[in-house]
Amino acid sequence: MMLKTIRKTGDLRRELARARKKGKSIGFVPTMGYLHDGHLALVEECRRTCDVVVVSIFVNPKQFGPAEDLDRYPKDLRRDKRLLARYGCDLIFVPSVREVYPRDFGTSVGVDDLRGKLCGLTRPDHFDGVCVVVLKLLLAVMPDKAFFGEKDYQQLVIIKRMVGDLGLPVEIVGVTTVRDKDGLALSSRNAYLSEEERGIATSLFRSLELARLLVASGERRSHVIKDRIMSLLVDSGVTKVEYAAVVDPVSLDDIRYVDSEARIAVAALVGRARLIDNIAVDSRVGRRSRGRQKRGTVCVILAAGEGKRMKSPRPKLLHEIGGVPMVEHVVRASRAAGVKDVFAIVGHKSEKLQPLMKKLRVGTVRQDVQRGTGHAVLQVYPLLAGFSGDILVLSGDVPLVRASTVKRLLAQHARHSNAITFATVSVPDARGYGRIVRNQKGAFVKIVEERDADREVRKISEINVGLYCFKAGPLFDSLLTLTASNVQMEYYLPDSIQSIRSRGGRVEAVLIDDHTEGFGVNTAAELNAVRKIYSGRQKNEDNKRGLENGIHRKRRQ
Ligand code: PAF
Repeated sequence: MMLKTIRKTGDLRRELARARKKGKSIGFVPTMGYLHDGHLALVEECRRTCDVVVVSIFVNPKQFGPAEDLDRYPKDLRRDKRLLARYGCDLIFVPSVREVYPRDFGTSVGVDDLRGKLCGLTRPDHFDGVCVVVLKLLLAVMPDKAFFGEKDYQQLVIIKRMVGDLGLPVEIVGVTTVRDKDGLALSSRNAYLSEEERGIATSLFRSLELARLLVASGERRSHVIKDRIMSLLVDSGVTKVEYAAVVDPVSLDDIRYVDSEARIAVAALVGRARLIDNIAVDSRVGRRSRGRQKRGTVCVILAAGEGKRMKSPRPKLLHEIGGVPMVEHVVRASRAAGVKDVFAIVGHKSEKLQPLMKKLRVGTVRQDVQRGTGHAVLQVYPLLAGFSGDILVLSGDVPLVRASTVKRLLAQHARHSNAITFATVSVPDARGYGRIVRNQKGAFVKIVEERDADREVRKISEINVGLYCFKAGPLFDSLLTLTASNVQMEYYLPDSIQSIRSRGGRVEAVLIDDHTEGFGVNTAAELNAVRKIYSGRQKNEDNKRGLENGIHRKRRQ
């Protein structure tokens, strides 16, 4: 079917009657236009499961309050049509306001016990406005299935109830929220955000992540979860928090304890944009803190990356160096330095890494969506609830790090009671890397990224290796407040250095002699280079051993 635009309900019904006669199933995605990937995910799901895809574009005046953004609601019909054609939509229904609401329209529809909760507290007529338009649109299209995003969770629950109560023969399908790389839920209203506000807006996602981690770590009290959400939002610069709620997923009633499935929802003003977001949590899922270890050192190995640039079907960390998988060298370095408790953050192709991790007695924690190294480390939070020791962070793809270096780092960390101790190297060519700036006494001052570096800073050859020891408390506090204001939109672990320092934490950068210890493997060429260095090191050590044996023999003679 060619993409057709229809404006009248009668024409739409006639068109769909023909399809129905041919036995085709009809899927429907109602929208208010200005489409983003969240809408397109609904269209995709509709295309995947139905024969005919109908999308409506109608900015419904009845769901906007008097002081809301009806007049400035973003519109771009031409772009929407182009996108819908690309995503396999068959019919676009674009009715006028008079077509949907004739002059004498006087009917109202609503779900009594759901309309006043959550967003309904501040938008009293909103959900009745949604119900009436969705009912009219469903009656016009008469689809087999209609698709709604979980981002508007209360809307989804209300529509399911309305359809159930009225016995409408349509299946309501909820589709998972689509997020930007930094976690911000997609919404047409994100268009109102300035660059700075965009960073603040991610605090909605971050506060829900925190809530998820709290539940996974065994926190059951809703008031504690809500307080933590509130603080994070306010500390991040949100203009006004409308609500932070822990509710039953069906009745939307507040719950005091999370003892099975729950929905955690937030609504907040960021600048002039009103944003909402929510997540599902389930107290029965997830791994709780093992509760035994409160102190000491735990090692976290970053092992979730995709390793795309290796261009190999094998996970990057399983490529061998000297007959041993790359990541095993890192585990060995940690254990030989005296850190026995090791976790790996896994994600991409994790099933292929698991057997090795099991063999090495390394616990694994999943990072389902890769949102950067800072976000990766945060995933161990539930396992380490109540832990006040140190967290050593190593990268699974930096395999030449020596146990002696890790040991030295840990010793400095303990000796100076640092909040962070991290390793640096001096390289022949530091282009492309953040430079370590020290003061005249040689103490660490800051890391300056290449793009922010002036001529003097560019002359510095000392760079960060990605080998850290953190005090657990300051680390988690900083990870929860990081923003992802970089081109990749990722939460970077190195950003926690500045954040911990600005809160008074002591930071020390330890320069290590052999810069090859910091070599990371991202490509096949880099793997070869690392293999050569490794076998060179082995030869040196063999020679040294040979020499020592020779000396011993001579002495005995
Ligand atoms: O979710 C929306 O975009 C709207 O509320 C809907 C369902 C299209 C009704 O106007």
